[in-house]
Amino acid sequence: FAAKSPEPSQLTFKAVTPNQVDGIVVPNGYDHAVVIKWGDEVVPGAPRFNVAKQSADAQSKQFGYNNDFVAVLPLDRRGERALLVCNHEYTNEDLMFPNFPGIDGLSVEQLRTAMAAHGMSVVELERVGDSGRWTPVSRGSRRYNRRITALATHFKMTGPAAGHALLKTAADPSGRDVIGTLNNCAGGVTPWGTILSGEENFNQYFVGAETAVEPAKTRFNRYGIDTVNHYPSGSRKWDRADARFDLTKNPNEANRFGWVVEIDPFTPGSTPRKHTALGRVKHEGANIIIAKNGKAVAYMGDDERFDYLYKFVSDKKFDSGKSYFARRHNLTLLESGSLYVAKLGFTSAAEIDGSGKLPADGAFNGTGEWVALVKDGRSQVPGMSVEEVLIFTRLAGDAVGATKMDRPEDVEPNPKTGKIYVALTNNTARGPAGKAPADEANPRTNNKHGHIFEITEDQGDHTGTTFTWTIPIVCGDPKDPATYFMGFDKAQVSPISCPDNVAFDGAGNLWISTDGNALGTNDGLFAVPLEGPEKGHLKQFLTVPYGAETCGPWIHGDNKSAFVAVQHPGEITGASIEKPASNWPDGDFAKPGVAVAWRVDGRNIGV
Ligand code: FEO
Ligand code: CA
Ligand code: CA
Ligand code: CA
Repeated sequence: FAAKSPEPSQLTFKAVTPNQVDGIVVPNGYDHAVVIKWGDEVVPGAPRFNVAKQSADAQSKQFGYNNDFVAVLPLDRRGERALLVCNHEYTNEDLMFPNFPGIDGLSVEQLRTAMAAHGMSVVELERVGDSGRWTPVSRGSRRYNRRITALATHFKMTGPAAGHALLKTAADPSGRDVIGTLNNCAGGVTPWGTILSGEENFNQYFVGAETAVEPAKTRFNRYGIDTVNHYPSGSRKWDRADARFDLTKNPNEANRFGWVVEIDPFTPGSTPRKHTALGRVKHEGANIIIAKNGKAVAYMGDDERFDYLYKFVSDKKFDSGKSYFARRHNLTLLESGSLYVAKLGFTSAAEIDGSGKLPADGAFNGTGEWVALVKDGRSQVPGMSVEEVLIFTRLAGDAVGATKMDRPEDVEPNPKTGKIYVALTNNTARGPAGKAPADEANPRTNNKHGHIFEITEDQGDHTGTTFTWTIPIVCGDPKDPATYFMGFDKAQVSPISCPDNVAFDGAGNLWISTDGNALGTNDGLFAVPLEGPEKGHLKQFLTVPYGAETCGPWIHGDNKSAFVAVQHPGEITGASIEKPASNWPDGDFAKPGVAVAWRVDGRNIGV
């Protein structure tokens, strides 16, 4: 499903200059277009978008808000049709509702509309001519088109913790049938053609934890669920629309979020699943590689300051056959396996002073161990059952002394080399006063700009338990001595801050999108070769509109198209539909949307 052109992409484009333009800027010789945006039809027959009359029913059929992860999966052999699958992470009610009355003033229907704007979308696309541009199909059944929402879509829990008492609620005594998915951030495409999506900051949807007693209180706290401020605290107030978000009434409901979910976009009516075997954290996403012995290995980050890197190794082996039975088998791979957390060793520990200065051996690098949390069906954490390890995975990581990282976001194996790349986005609390001082893997105090972390499994064995690591890129303004770009001449490198999502093109070049540029200019998409003479020559490929974060990204399998999700354009304090900080893309008020960039002469991106 993810077949890549063998033709390598050389990154010959001229870097885009940092800017504060309220639009997408691409290099000379490239063009771009919006593919789909908030409110556009997804389910055929969706009501026409009318921001003044928006409803939960309409939103349940329209493209959701704040698109994040993007995948584009081929639907035919000629490369003319594809499925766009996209996450809708969260909502900006102030930018969604005219005359925004404040979060407490929203009607129940508006709260339900926000719930319907969360989730995922599946949209059939067609290529425009023979270009790298794509657009939603204009004719035909669009039978794959689908909205998955926080409001109404049922998910099936799988794996060892499914059905456990801690996952049961009054509405679901089975502990296996959950409504909705929340805060879906990044994700990945599996080798069997399904989509994984990470439930990230689910804590913000729940209220009422201040009444919790131990051990629930410690568990809520570790996941950032507020146990101090009294009801009605909580930023989203969804409890006013649905009592399951009130933990005084439904104390286990929060345990049903924070999972990796898998959806099968090629089977329109299929029930999406939440896989307990991959653990419960603030999942950024999950990306899979098939190990030499055939097992599926998922790499995952827990996006919180001082949280951990994880990997899952399936019990069963991938079947590379094309039959219905092979696919049916592969769909079970994430339902059982072993779960590990990363613990790092250092080579230059004594030299790390928090300044970001390279050690005398010329690299931030070291060794690492994947410490088992669940293995062979048994808990490896004293005092915790398998189910407790999987439901309260952060506490299991704490118990085994995992290494505290600077916010692990996207974690993705390079399909060309098998090395794993981690975006560590930032951590301004790193330092003597924070939970941990700088170390060789997180070498800067007050890490505003983040870094890229690279893992090489020993013997190339993705199922193994030992690895080495290095930091190829320390982000920031290249003029800042505390930056590093694989040793490349920094005068030729683009400034980059807050790496978030990563992707690879067919040549194995690393593409990085950013969130929260601390250098004061718009977020964007960057590309950098990881091998050869241009290794470390990081260049900005595009910038997104004012106030937006660059999500996705997705480099299409034929290397002709680069997709990005423009998330939360105009997200600036005080902005609203009446006072827009951004009016992208239509000139009225800001709308999140997915965009595609392509090369005007039809050649590969970058070449
Ligand atoms: Fe949703 Fe970790 O960014
Ligand atoms: Ca992210
Ligand atoms: Ca990615
Ligand atoms: Ca982010």
